[in-house]
Amino acid sequence: MKHELQVEILKELMQQLDEGRNIDAGVQYRMPTAPYVCREQADREWQSFFSNHPQLIGLSQDLPGPGTYFTMDDLGIPMLATRDQQGKFRVFLNACRHRGAKVATEARGKKSIFLCPFHNWSYSNTGALLAVPDEAHFGVIDKSCNGLIALPSVEHDGLLWVHPQPDGHLDIEELLGAELVAELSSYDLGRHGFMGEKTIDADLNWKLANDTFGETYHFGKLHKDTFGQLFYGNNLHFKLFGRHHRFVTASRGIDAMRSMPEAEWQISRGAFVLYYLFPNVQLICSSETATLVRIYPDPANPGRSITRNSFYFTPEAAAHAVATDAEIADASAAYIPNRSGPSLKVIFEVFNSTIEQEDYVMGAMQQKAAASSRLKEVILGRNEPALHHFHQNYREALNEPPLEPVQSI
Ligand code: FES
Ligand SMILES: [Fe+2]
Repeated sequence: MKHELQVEILKELMQQLDEGRNIDAGVQYRMPTAPYVCREQADREWQSFFSNHPQLIGLSQDLPGPGTYFTMDDLGIPMLATRDQQGKFRVFLNACRHRGAKVATEARGKKSIFLCPFHNWSYSNTGALLAVPDEAHFGVIDKSCNGLIALPSVEHDGLLWVHPQPDGHLDIEELLGAELVAELSSYDLGRHGFMGEKTIDADLNWKLANDTFGETYHFGKLHKDTFGQLFYGNNLHFKLFGRHHRFVTASRGIDAMRSMPEAEWQISRGAFVLYYLFPNVQLICSSETATLVRIYPDPANPGRSITRNSFYFTPEAAAHAVATDAEIADASAAYIPNRSGPSLKVIFEVFNSTIEQEDYVMGAMQQKAAASSRLKEVILGRNEPALHHFHQNYREALNEPPLEPVQSI
């Protein structure tokens, strides 16, 4: 992010804190709860947003060198992502052309040749079928047209994208728009190394899981002992990029900026910068660290979702974080903001546990209330524009009528 923009955002957040105000969208919406439980809508979302839409599935360093790979099944199809000897990123259907067994069964690893466990057909990491055992018995196979089925894939500014349909259209500039592409590229995300991941399997609709990233109103209440120690809450700088948005809220570190020359301000030291990328990604970025949150529906159950949190640090930040963790003697000290830069402990433990034990506990309650069919609507406040955008967004994509503004509640 350009320094000028970092300063502009930090100044706006300082002003909100000084004046005791939050962002004001100037409108409230009543939001029906049926989209959280409706089976028919869940099917349409799955078809439109997950089976037929480009997906961000990782950062470049999820495949840190030639011969590395990872697998995923979150889009309802088995997928194998590889980096070949020339460094090219590819994605395939993780299904053997003989009778469909997975050719890779581990979550991630390093392997240039994939040997199907069933009858040992083998494939290269470029997808080529290399060998068929006992071919004299099986019959001759034309290897040139029986490689793994390729899915459209592209590595763009450190982000790994796939389209889950073999004939799908994948154009990142078109998907994100030039302004957002330029901003994301400024983080140099290709340098951020994979540090760990956490999966949260929870009883809440995927949109309720996304909703927890959509306002700062709850930070000082629900998260008073966790995120609330690190972030002020009740302040927000918000910008739309078509179906995507940027969401920035002040951390306690913003106080230190006030006595520093503007030329030395760094947004990562004073705020939390999050990009929502339609349909299911929350990407928290800085030039040192990144947290990629991908939220997937359970296609068989609108009341369940899977959240995958992946953490990335630049080599310098990783070295610093290890040293910082060594300094932190106990868990409570980990909550001291910006004690000495990013800490693995803070990023992993606080982030994961806050989501799982606080946000998603609320989400599971909200899911039950929606499933009761007695609570027909909820209210989105003037201080919750990211929620307005998220819900209007998918409604528009599904050809649903927009939410109606409320003049008075
Ligand atoms: S299914 Fe893979 S070798 Fe038979
Ligand atoms: Fe939260």
